[in-house]
Amino acid sequence: MSHADPTPPFYLQGNFAPVARELTALDLPVEGAIPPELRGLYLRNGPNPRRGDPGHWFAGDGMVHGVRLEAGRAAWYRNRWVRTRFFDDGDDPQLVSADGVMDHTVAKANTNVIRHAGRILALVESSFPTELTPELETLGLCDFGGRLTTSMTAHPKLCPTSGELHFFGYRFAPPWLTYHRLDAAGALVQSEEIPVRGPTMIHDFAVTERHLIFMDLPIVFSPELAAEGRFPYRWSHDYGARLGVLAKGGRGADVRWLEIDPCYVFHPMNAFERGGRIVLYVARYETLWEDGPESFAPARLHRFTLDLGSEKVSEEALDDRAIEFPRVDERRVGSPNRFGYAVADPIVPGRDESQILKYDLETGAREAHDFGPGCRPGEAVMAPAHDAAREDEGWLLCFVHDAARDASDLTILDAQQPAAAPVARIQLPQRVPFGFHGNWLPDES
Ligand SMILES: [Fe+2]
Repeated sequence: MSHADPTPPFYLQGNFAPVARELTALDLPVEGAIPPELRGLYLRNGPNPRRGDPGHWFAGDGMVHGVRLEAGRAAWYRNRWVRTRFFDDGDDPQLVSADGVMDHTVAKANTNVIRHAGRILALVESSFPTELTPELETLGLCDFGGRLTTSMTAHPKLCPTSGELHFFGYRFAPPWLTYHRLDAAGALVQSEEIPVRGPTMIHDFAVTERHLIFMDLPIVFSPELAAEGRFPYRWSHDYGARLGVLAKGGRGADVRWLEIDPCYVFHPMNAFERGGRIVLYVARYETLWEDGPESFAPARLHRFTLDLGSEKVSEEALDDRAIEFPRVDERRVGSPNRFGYAVADPIVPGRDESQILKYDLETGAREAHDFGPGCRPGEAVMAPAHDAAREDEGWLLCFVHDAARDASDLTILDAQQPAAAPVARIQLPQRVPFGFHGNWLPDES
């Protein structure tokens, strides 16, 4: 796009556009009743470019929006940019050198925000994590005492039983892919190179009770595009597509690669072991970015079944609705889940409404919450009612933008009755731009 083009790109228009101010608001107005069991912090990250056009929706500075819930009230809202070197330096620091080496200290932490071992970390897949305070102020980069030598995916997986955090980092120069494991206290205790055929974009991965599943799919890094300052990935017609299975804590050389039909997956919904096989639910794109970096073909719910004996993978399309941001109750990550949640018709420029879907993977049933004309939700996060709650006993939290008011609410749905009217709508002091991922951080007792 030339500078003379009068139409800004989609990610600078409407509710994709950034907000200019960092606000703190106390005791927010609420419609309905916030369940008093919800004691904690809902956080969500997303791009919010501070200056000009970053060149791609994925390339804006990160901004975390947070709402603190306690005793049936919304105690505060805050939004803060994640202070990275891009934020502080007037000149853009160089993310990738000419020989493809990434500087893990410069990227914009705009994709997810998690908590592990008491640390709140803003994440983007090209960088070390950035640690935040519970009030969303930036503390600085975290490299786990100097042990982390690669970037960290924005989608680490917390093992609900061991408390370990499994993750990986990918690079544009060998070693292209490295698996890492943090213990429950937050110490980096294992790093293993995972051999892959080339520098692909690996956004997320999956875990089961016993295994890790890496997705080596045909979105390939192009040094030529990067050198031209353009979006550095392209769809490859000849790279192929494979799922890599490795025992948790295993050695990188032992990964087994199972071929699948070419596709792209940003986000698995969940994976688990069943009858000697691995079942993997994902939001699957038939292709991605074949016609340039702004071409988003829809993703659909899809099931891979991996037979580790025959090393064959069977595939099944489960629904024709376009979805993204698949999530499950975090307590079920890596173990059999019955329910999954997703945003229907997500983040498509030009659309003005979408729904939150609840899938019953046992019966195939699908329920929807329709927020009404002009109202678009982001990712829905499941907050269990209590530690021993059943899988869908709890609430779905999501930011919803209402185009008519140009305002956003934090909306709370009953996960057992997702189609019903919201339990509560918390009115925020400014709109929350469409973004990526977040989490519910319950108070630790
Ligand atoms: Fe993601």
